[in-house]
Formats: sequence, structure tokens, C-alpha cells
Amino acid sequence: MDTIHVTRPSMPDYDEYCREIQKLWDSRRLTNMGPEHEALRAALEQYLGCPHVVLHANGHLALENTLAAMGLPRGGEVITTPFTFASTTHAIVRSGLTPVFCDVEGDAFTMDPGKIEALITDKTVAILPVHVYGHVCDVAAIDRVAKAHVLPVIYDAAHAFGVRYKGVSAVNFGDAAILSFHATKVFHTIEGGAVCLGREDLAARLDDLKNFGIRGPEQCAVPGGNAKMNEFQAAMGLCNLRHVEGEIAKRGRLAERYRRNLAGVPGIRLCRPQKDVTPNFAYFPVLFDGFRASRDAVCDALAERHIMARKYFYPLTSRFPCYAHLPTAGRSSTPVAAYAADCVLTLPLYADLAAEDVDRICEAILACGK
Ligand SMILES: Cc1ncc(COP(=O)(O)O)c(C=O)c1O
Repeated sequence: MDTIHVTRPSMPDYDEYCREIQKLWDSRRLTNMGPEHEALRAALEQYLGCPHVVLHANGHLALENTLAAMGLPRGGEVITTPFTFASTTHAIVRSGLTPVFCDVEGDAFTMDPGKIEALITDKTVAILPVHVYGHVCDVAAIDRVAKAHVLPVIYDAAHAFGVRYKGVSAVNFGDAAILSFHATKVFHTIEGGAVCLGREDLAARLDDLKNFGIRGPEQCAVPGGNAKMNEFQAAMGLCNLRHVEGEIAKRGRLAERYRRNLAGVPGIRLCRPQKDVTPNFAYFPVLFDGFRASRDAVCDALAERHIMARKYFYPLTSRFPCYAHLPTAGRSSTPVAAYAADCVLTLPLYADLAAEDVDRICEAILACGK
């Protein structure tokens, strides 16, 4: 029996990718913001309705460079959530800043805006919420708190490619939003990422930071690093972008099938679709709370049948040993996030997953503990 992984990259047609990269053999222009990079940047600015999309080698460097471009003072505190991938918290720490963990709310598992204000001190320099699973944060409420305290908001939108809130792409909220184009994402460039933003000056600073600060053959403006997206990555992006709407639609049909199969089962909680949100179906998280088998037992039972569900996101990043010293790292600081981390299992979901496999996965879950 073939293993079903939690995700599987979408691939363009092989010939389509070959046609796209053929140009690179002709031009020998392999990286350094070549034509493929520029074509992808323009196409994404249009698709996302975003004034500036600064492409990066990956989402993590996009996040680190955004924190640097904002000029946040070292030692400052950044309010964020621990119910996320390691990258979010690591980027804050690697930028010389201190994460302050805010709890999430109990349905979408995004930052609870009602709990931000109590965490603001005279050291707070930014708010960094996560559109986790592609669920859109309460952007209006977060914006109100941020404005009242004159704090920038940087969204980790790594999961939110193609998501819209009231018709507007989710990347257009806050001062900046970062995307990941990792192979496992709804839209990918093998590895890759971007910063999406409205401010031209910040976009120019990011262009510096991702290319050693080089502005010309004899001019190096700032101590930047290397986070350039190469032409092969951009070519993959151009191909995948042509098909992304179809891939999201396929994911949506599979998510609907999961919902039909699992709705109403005692002890299984599904996330409610969000009002005014056009989703991207990046993940299918399920909470086991009072089900006849524990989350861990379900995960093990699925693995025995070669179905690789994942405990996204367990443990909370605040529970990593390297963050144990932080005042907000304890479970009691973020009880809802702790609950979610203990109960959640993300089921396999990708565009070419067979509908029959969704049924098989659900049957395996329902057989647990019987
Ligand atoms: C929430 C979140 N933030 C940041 C990243 C980092 O993105 P990348 O893997 O492209 O560096 C990821 C990657 O999965 C992520 O899930």
C-alpha cells in the first residue's frame, strides 16, 4: 500500500517547466533578479493585488529581512503566537528581539486580539501574528490595538497564499506580510518566499537586504545578506501560478469530503469556515477532544496504515527548550494554544489526493478505539 503523506507538492506539466527553463540555457542568466524573477514578481503583484512583492529565497529569510528592514531596536519585544511553525519564533530571536507569547482564540487558532494589550510594555516594538492554516487573523481588531500603541504589524502569512478577506488578498493587511513558497505550500517555487507590502521605501530596503546591500558595481549601501530567489525557482513559480486556482479548487472539494465524512462525530471538532474569507484549503486540521481515542492514538493508528497525518502545531514553539526561559513560555500564558497543540491533527490534503483516499483516512479514524 502506498504511503499517503500529509502533503505532496503540486507539479506543473514536465514539458511546461522545461519550456520555461529552456530560456535559461540560452541566456545563462541563472539568478540575480533575471527575467524569470521579474516576470514572477510582476505576476504576483497583480495576482495578490499588492503594490510590492519582494521575492526571497525562502519564507524564513523574508521574515528575518522584514524585521531588519523595519529597523526594530535590538532587545525589543515582539508579541506573537506560539501556535505556529518554528520559523516564526526563530526569526524574532535571530533578529535580536524577544518573543512575547500571546494566546490564540479558540476557533481559528489565530492571535486573540483581546489578549494583546495586557502584553504591551515600554519594550514592545511590533506585533507578529500568524494566519495559521490560512485562517485570517482578526485583522481589524489587531489593527486597532496596533494603532492605539503605534506598533507595526507584520503578518506571517506563510500559509495564506490565495486567501482573501472581504475580497482582498490576506497579504494586504498590516505593515507587511510574508509568504512561504516552500514545496509543501499551496503555491510553491520549490523553496521560496516573499514580503508583500505597500511601502516603497521598505521594499527598497528589502531589495538591499536580500542582495548584500549592492546597488551598483561600485556601490554597497548596507550590510545585507543573500536571500535572492534564483531563476529556476521563479520559473517553477510562473508555471505553478498558471494552475493555482485549479489546485485550490481541487483541495476545496477534498476538504468538503472530509467535512461530510467527519461532521457530527462526537469528540471530533472541525474548524468552522470563516465569515467573509475565501479559503485556500492549505491544511485540514481536526481536533480530538473527548473522542474515544486520543489524538496521539489516532495519529499512531493512521501511521500503521501508512497514513502520515501530522501534529501541526505540536509542540508550541514556546515549549522548545531554547525558549523555556521566557516569561510567557509556560502553558498557563497561552492555555488555548496549549489545548490546540494537544488535540490537533492535520490530515493529508493536497490537490491530487484521491477522493477514495479521503474516505479511507476517515474510515481509519472512525475505526479508532472501537
Ligand atoms: C508559519 C510559517 N512561517 C514561516 C515559514 C518559513 O517558510 P520557509 O519554509 O519558506 O522558509 C513556514 C514554513 O513552513 C511556516 O509554516
